[in-house]
Amino acid sequence: MTRVRILGIGHYVPEGVLTNFDLEKIVETSDQWIQERTGIRERRIAAPNQATSDLAYEAAKVALERADVSPKELDLIIVATATPDMLFPSTACLLQDRLGAPKVPCFDMQAACPGFVYALEVGKSMLLGSGYNTALVVGAECLSKITDWTDRSTCVLFGDGAGAAVLGKENGDRGILSVYLGGDGSLADLLYLPAGGSRLPASMETVAHRLHYLKMRGREVFKYAVLGMQESALRALEQAGVRPEELRWVVPHQANTRIIEATRQKLKLPPEKVYINIDRYGNTSAASIPIALSELVEKGELEAGDLVLLVAFGAGFTWGGAVIRW
Ligand code: UT7
Repeated sequence: MTRVRILGIGHYVPEGVLTNFDLEKIVETSDQWIQERTGIRERRIAAPNQATSDLAYEAAKVALERADVSPKELDLIIVATATPDMLFPSTACLLQDRLGAPKVPCFDMQAACPGFVYALEVGKSMLLGSGYNTALVVGAECLSKITDWTDRSTCVLFGDGAGAAVLGKENGDRGILSVYLGGDGSLADLLYLPAGGSRLPASMETVAHRLHYLKMRGREVFKYAVLGMQESALRALEQAGVRPEELRWVVPHQANTRIIEATRQKLKLPPEKVYINIDRYGNTSAASIPIALSELVEKGELEAGDLVLLVAFGAGFTWGGAVIRW
C-alpha cells in the first residue's frame, strides 16, 4: 500500500531565552504560579529582526538534510502558521525563494495550534491524489510578536519556534495511518486576535486599544481543550485501528501540562510515553508538535516502526489527531 511518510524532520528555536523570573520583572506574576498552572519554566523569543519565515527556513534546512532531499526536489510547500511574516504573500512563498526550491505550489494554512496536523493531512492528500512526490510541511510561529506584554494572563504562555517535515510517498507499512480533524467557530472569541484583518483594519484606535495582540479567556478554553484533545486522540487511534497501549509515543500540542495530563489519563498511558517540552518552549502553537518530533529523533527515541500519536487543540476552535507508523 502506498503511504505518505515523514522522510525527515527538523526544528529551530531562536536563541533568546525568557525565563519565568524575567517575566516576574515585567508583570505581576511568579515562577511558582506559571510552573504550577502551566508547566512552563522558560520560552524562546525571536530577535526583533527575525520573522516566522526565518525560523521556518532554519527548521526546513535541517529537515531536508535529515531526509536527504534537496530543495530542488520539492513539489509542494505548506506552512502552518497563525503569525505569518505578513498577510500576503504567504510565508510559504517566502520560504520557497529562500530555499531556492522550484516554482512549486506554496501556501499557508491557518488552523492555529493544530496547524501542523491539518497541514500533514493536506500534504498527504495532495501527494496521494496527484503527481506530487515530495512536500515540505512546516509549523512555524513568532507568537511573541502578537503577545501583549502587559497582560499577565497570556504573556507567560507563548514562545517562538519552528518545526519542518519532508513528506514522501512509499510502499509499505510506515507512514501516516490516520488523521482526524475538527473545527467549530461558535466560540471563536475565546481565543483570537481582534484587529489587522478585514473586520477591524489597523487604525490609531486599534493600536491604542491593544487590539493587535492575542486575547484569550484561558479558563474557558482549558475546558474545551481537554475535551478536544481527548476526543481527537481517541478518534485518530480508532481510525488507525491502533490501541493506546501499542503507542511508543504520544506527542501532544504543548499548551499546558494539565491538559496533557488529562489526555494521558484518558488514554490510560504511563507518563513516560508522553513527550513534554513545554517547560523549555512554552506554547509555540503550530510549531509545538514538529519541534517535539524532531527532538525525539535527535535523542534517538523514535525508531522505524514506532507508533506515534499526534494530538492538538487550538483557536477556532480547531482540533486534530494523527497516528503515524514512524
Ligand atoms: O494553545 C491552545 C489553546 N490554549 C490553551 O489550551 C490554554 C488553555 N488555558 C490554560 O492553559 C489555563 O486556563 C491558563 C494557564 C491560561 C490559566 O490557568 P487557570 O488555572 O485557568 O487560571 P485562571 O485563568 O482561572 O486564573 C486563576 C487566578 C486568577 O486570579 P483570581 O481571579 O483567582 O484571583 C488570575 O487573575 O490566577 C490569576 N492569574 C495569574 N496569577 C499570576 C492569571 N494569570 C496569572 C499569572 N500570574 N500569569
